[in-house]
Amino acid sequence: MPGNMREDRLRGSHSLSAGTQRRMRAAVLIGAIVVVSLLHYLTPTSHVILHPLLQRAYYIPILLMALWFGWRGGLLAATIAGILYIPHIVMAWGANEEYSVAQYVEICMFFVIAPLIGVLADQERKQKQKIQETAVKLSETYAQLQASMEQVRRSDRLSALGELSAGLAHEIRNPLGALEGAVEILQRSELPSDTRQEFAEMAGKEVDRLKSLLTHFLDFARPQPPQRTLTEPAVLLGSIARLAGETAKLSHVEISVDAQETAPIAIDSEQIRQVLLNLVLNAVQAMPEGGEISLRSHQEGGAVILTVVDQGVGIAPENIERIFDPFFTTRPTGTGLGLSIAHQIVHGHGGEISVHNNPDRGATFAIRLPIAAAQPKTSPDERDLK
Ligand SMILES: Nc1ncnc2c1ncn2[C@@H]1O[C@H](COP(=O)(O)OP(=O)(O)O)[C@@H](O)[C@H]1O
Ligand SMILES: [Mg+2]
Repeated sequence: MPGNMREDRLRGSHSLSAGTQRRMRAAVLIGAIVVVSLLHYLTPTSHVILHPLLQRAYYIPILLMALWFGWRGGLLAATIAGILYIPHIVMAWGANEEYSVAQYVEICMFFVIAPLIGVLADQERKQKQKIQETAVKLSETYAQLQASMEQVRRSDRLSALGELSAGLAHEIRNPLGALEGAVEILQRSELPSDTRQEFAEMAGKEVDRLKSLLTHFLDFARPQPPQRTLTEPAVLLGSIARLAGETAKLSHVEISVDAQETAPIAIDSEQIRQVLLNLVLNAVQAMPEGGEISLRSHQEGGAVILTVVDQGVGIAPENIERIFDPFFTTRPTGTGLGLSIAHQIVHGHGGEISVHNNPDRGATFAIRLPIAAAQPKTSPDERDLK
């Protein structure tokens, strides 16, 4: 922020009229001292109540001068009051020595109190100014911080995009290489028909793999906003268990459902079904020896937690931070997109997905979904991909 703007802010929005205002205030206060003095001269000495009152009336403009203009203003006011008042003491009360001494003492008090209040007011003003300056500096620092955070986010997004493209290129290169080889062989005229058939099938499989890779990638790259409807978590888990049950049985895996009573949740049930299916399939793949997958749901405050607990191999500690990254996979035929899509869908619902290894064996994936539709949490790199 340029210096002059900053000063403007310190002075406040009335900066133009502030000087005039101060001068007017000073004039009014000095005028008040003059008026009080005049009243002294004009009031007959017989008014024994009015005189002491008028004498104390000086304190008001003197104190205000000290408050508004500091010790210098206070001293100036005290001096003016003294100069205007002393002739009156000499003229009107000169004969009464005791009373005049009391008056002089009163004037001395002006000179004690005015600078004292003035110094205190000055101190407070300085303090206030310091606080204001600090506030301005703080807001400047905050703006700078935000700008640099934005920069970090942008470079983060770019590097995420680069990583993503590199991952995709890598995933495409393998099937493409296999396809190229198969096509080359198929071009040979002397090829026996069963070999030709074999390589044609191989080429077909690679094309399928590429297609599914691209479909998954598009799911990830262009996430659809959730079409929310109220869904019973228990019903959802039941349908997943039925849907994946047959496939799981082939791998000797049983799926059980343990759904506690919860409120219905506003979710896109197709999307969340896709997430749960991904988790269940991963769990089946992690249990080559078979076992049990437990699908659970319970409510925690304003959110429903869905968990998928398996008895598989668990996740190596060095991989646990990376399993939600696109293209991260430990399986030879994996795409590494299942969990990143799951992550994206859950965040699109304003929820969270997390994972931990079970104490005995296997892993647990937990999805926390707010019951009322919340604002989606879109991470910067997801936004970039839209
Ligand atoms: N239930 C699980 N148990 C152990 N490892 C898992 C489990 N779920 C996922 N993983 C790990 O996370 C990786 C990424 O999973 P995912 O994104 O679904 O991709 P993919 O299934 O194609 O490998 C898997 O390769 C595996 O190493
Ligand atoms: Mg998977």
